[in-house]
Amino acid sequence: MKSIVILISGRGSNLRALLDAGPPEFSCAVISNRPDAEGLAYARERNVATAVVDHCDYSSRTDFDAALAEAIDRYQPDLVVLAGFMRILGDAFVRRYQGRLLNIHPSLLPAFPGLRTHAQALAAGVKIHGCTVHFVTPALDCGPIVIQAAVPVLGDDTAEILAARVLEQEHRIYPQALRWFLAGRLTLTADGRVLLDGETPSDASLVAPLAQ
Ligand code: GRF
Repeated sequence: MKSIVILISGRGSNLRALLDAGPPEFSCAVISNRPDAEGLAYARERNVATAVVDHCDYSSRTDFDAALAEAIDRYQPDLVVLAGFMRILGDAFVRRYQGRLLNIHPSLLPAFPGLRTHAQALAAGVKIHGCTVHFVTPALDCGPIVIQAAVPVLGDDTAEILAARVLEQEHRIYPQALRWFLAGRLTLTADGRVLLDGETPSDASLVAPLAQ
């Protein structure tokens, strides 16, 4: 059975979607950088192993990254999944987990990296917004794209309404990416290309529900 570690910082709605992702079955541990993360309570309710590596306990990013890697490696995971993990990870950390580190970002990357993506999308006046699962590389919100979901931006959207529409799709595409990985179907080549069943993914990697 494959093993994954999910890193969270807060609410944990993607964590919930991921825990329900199977089959195939997998063993899982959840690590948070915040002791009060809501997602931790949920993981405990589900009898999932949890740990906290509080970034406030470390004076440098390098020390925090090293402690986090140590906590992760105790579980010997095949895959590390960032699910609303709100710390920037250093290059050495990212390289250590290259090809087995996934993130979800609430925009159609490469548009709107960083924070407040829904407000950014509204300010830009885009008509389509969405979310992206990607392999993590040292450049922030930039890694090779695994799967995206697109949603319409409607006339009376606020950032909150748009965020909720996107989140619903996050809960579809992240479990999908996880299932692919667990089934051995998803790989990252040494030159940074995403392969699904040994080929460049096409239809399966775009989810585009119709406008309601
Ligand atoms: C999600 O929108 C995710 O894309 C972003 O942070 C948010 C985390 O939400 N990286 P949750 O903790 O999974 O509910």
